[in-house]
Amino acid sequence: MAFGKALAVAAIVALTLVLLLRTDHDYASARKVSPNKEKHIPQLGLGTWLSDRDEVAHAVEYALDNGYDHIDAALVYKNENQTGKGIKASGVDRSKIWVTSKLWNSDHRRPEAEAAIQKSIADLGVDYLDLYLMHWPVAFVPEEGTRLDKDTSIVDTWRTMEDFVRQNYTRHIGVSNFARAQVQAILDVCDICPYAHEFETHPYLQQQDFVDWHRRADVDIKVIAYSPLANTNPTYRDKKGSLVDPIFKDPFWTKLAKAKNATVVQTVLAWGMQRGTVVIPKSTQEKHIAENRGALDIAFSKGEMREISKRDKKVRMNDPGKSWGVKLFVDLDDPTSFDGEDIEL
Ligand SMILES: NC(=O)c1ccc[n+]([C@@H]2O[C@H](COP(=O)([O-])OP(=O)(O)OC[C@H]3O[C@@H](n4cnc5c(N)ncnc54)[C@H](OP(=O)(O)O)[C@@H]3O)[C@@H](O)[C@H]2O)c1
Ligand SMILES: *[C@@H]1O[C@H](CO)[C@@H](O)[C@H](O)[C@H]1NC(C)=O
Ligand SMILES: *[C@@H]1O[C@H](CO)[C@@H](O)[C@H](O)[C@H]1NC(C)=O
Ligand SMILES: *[C@@H]1O[C@H](CO)[C@@H](O)[C@H](O)[C@H]1NC(C)=O
Repeated sequence: MAFGKALAVAAIVALTLVLLLRTDHDYASARKVSPNKEKHIPQLGLGTWLSDRDEVAHAVEYALDNGYDHIDAALVYKNENQTGKGIKASGVDRSKIWVTSKLWNSDHRRPEAEAAIQKSIADLGVDYLDLYLMHWPVAFVPEEGTRLDKDTSIVDTWRTMEDFVRQNYTRHIGVSNFARAQVQAILDVCDICPYAHEFETHPYLQQQDFVDWHRRADVDIKVIAYSPLANTNPTYRDKKGSLVDPIFKDPFWTKLAKAKNATVVQTVLAWGMQRGTVVIPKSTQEKHIAENRGALDIAFSKGEMREISKRDKKVRMNDPGKSWGVKLFVDLDDPTSFDGEDIEL
């Protein structure tokens, strides 16, 4: 009998330990994954632009095994196959993960677009995407560098992408780096309408009215905030990023972070989520990936939100418009001026 009791106690202790250890991940999944197919985009994702090809598989695996359920990828990042390796290694069920990829400018014509989405799906090692974005509202002639394709409009490309939903390549389609009028042009004609718009927005380029416009009932598009850490991406350092303080040294943000007993990065990401955007910070370091998830536990008062809104600097970090000879963001803050530096994507 004593042996039986000891065994029962041991079993209970073991079960409790297993539950305790699993809580973090299960809690995240339970909160963000609905049981049906209507899974919505999770508020926090892992970015992969400029993620080192030798590190990204581990970063993705680590993130998915530690509560993340959303990966932001793109064919042009040239690391989708390693990203896929990380997804596979994580062992997390495909249905529990949100995977986004993007159609590059050279692939806007239908045959190229279909080959591109097939390649992204194959490299990422998935059967389907959750979201496929038109990366920029700019078409290049295939195989001719950045020569502009004046014959393929964003509406033409949208029609192709609508078929990708019908073909089950992707559950949703969306846009990225569009001006307001360009989003409207798609809304005016879409049969399958944009699920999300991914664009640069952070404390130094807040565009709150543009964010809020997407949430209007007649628009109803989710906003994904890229470069959510403002000028932290090293690519921006020698460009417009140097015009303003590195955000983690900004006196306002360091003070606010201290008040929240959090790091500046966690505080900035938490604000991004509370203001109604999905944030997709990139990191290949375990420590940062874990830290960034701490943003989910921080909340701001109305007064704090108001103070933050006063700190907008309206500085855009990512604008390749000049190098492509295209005026981007024409109806938004800090549009292409043809004076800024270009950025290699
Ligand atoms: N649609 C588009 O056109 C577009 C354009 C740009 C970006 N994006 C997407 O948005 C994602 C995020 O944007 P981003 O990569 O430009 O910039 P970001 O996520 O704002 O910043 C990335 C930088 O922050 C560092 N970092 C991350 N967490 C940190 C922490 N806790 N403490 C200190 N440093 C930290 C990273 O370094 P470590 O890796 O060393 O941690 C990296 O250098 C991209 O990866 C990409 O998926 C999309
Ligand atoms: C990904 O593709 C690159 C270039 O085509 C190749 O060198 C690398 O071995 C591939 N990695 C994986 C994990 O398949
Ligand atoms: C897409 O998936 C739906 C639902 O599973 C199915 O009914 C339909 O036949 C599929 N379409 C194609 C083109 O595979
Ligand atoms: C602040 O955060 C640290 C690290 O997360 C934690 O150990 C500490 O208890 C927190 N302090 C307060 C006052 O919340």
